[in-house]
Amino acid sequence: MLNLGILISGRGSNMESILKSIKKKKIPINPAIVISNKHNAKGLKIAKKLGVKIEVVESKGFKGTRAEYDKEIVSILTKYRVTPKKGLVCLAGFMRIISPEFTKKYKNRIINIHPSLLPAFPGLDSQKQALEYGAKVSGCSVHFVDSGMDTGPIIIQAVVKINGKDTEETLSKKILKEEHRIYPEAVNLFARKKIKVSGRKTIIS
Ligand code: GAR
Repeated sequence: MLNLGILISGRGSNMESILKSIKKKKIPINPAIVISNKHNAKGLKIAKKLGVKIEVVESKGFKGTRAEYDKEIVSILTKYRVTPKKGLVCLAGFMRIISPEFTKKYKNRIINIHPSLLPAFPGLDSQKQALEYGAKVSGCSVHFVDSGMDTGPIIIQAVVKINGKDTEETLSKKILKEEHRIYPEAVNLFARKKIKVSGRKTIIS
């Protein structure tokens, strides 16, 4: 069985949906460690409650480069056997850019959830970007992480409609509901070795 490491920065609702699916035995993966870059991330309490080990590598005030910060993360992942061969790393609201050293080491082993239909609206405040652009639909994407910003091969996407009354809050809520559905689904596909990456594309069997 593969070992799962989840990286969070805050609320941790996507982490929770993945951990609950694992608890219900829907996903054959060992939830090895949850790591936060903020000591007060709400998700840490949730992980603890669900019986998963937690660690913090505080990013605020970290004296060192991005690569050095990520080295600390990698050493924790390694400690919990979330290795490039036996592991999967899920970014779940982890609001940091990952260094090329980290993405190269874990090539096609790090996945992320993003609240838009990529390649539209990458980066921050994607729901606001979609509303301001006047898009009629938006959604969420689970994708592999490469060295670009939200550019890696897409695994699953879900669409939500935008209506004239939507605010950033209502749209975020609609999208989050879909995030909680597709992220565990993507982890499950990965855990069951059903995802192949071919260039920019993923092939799901
Ligand atoms: C989610 O909406 C996720 O898609 C987004 O942050 C939120 C985290 O919520 N991620 C990004 O914007 C990454 N660029 P959560 O902590 O409750 O899972």
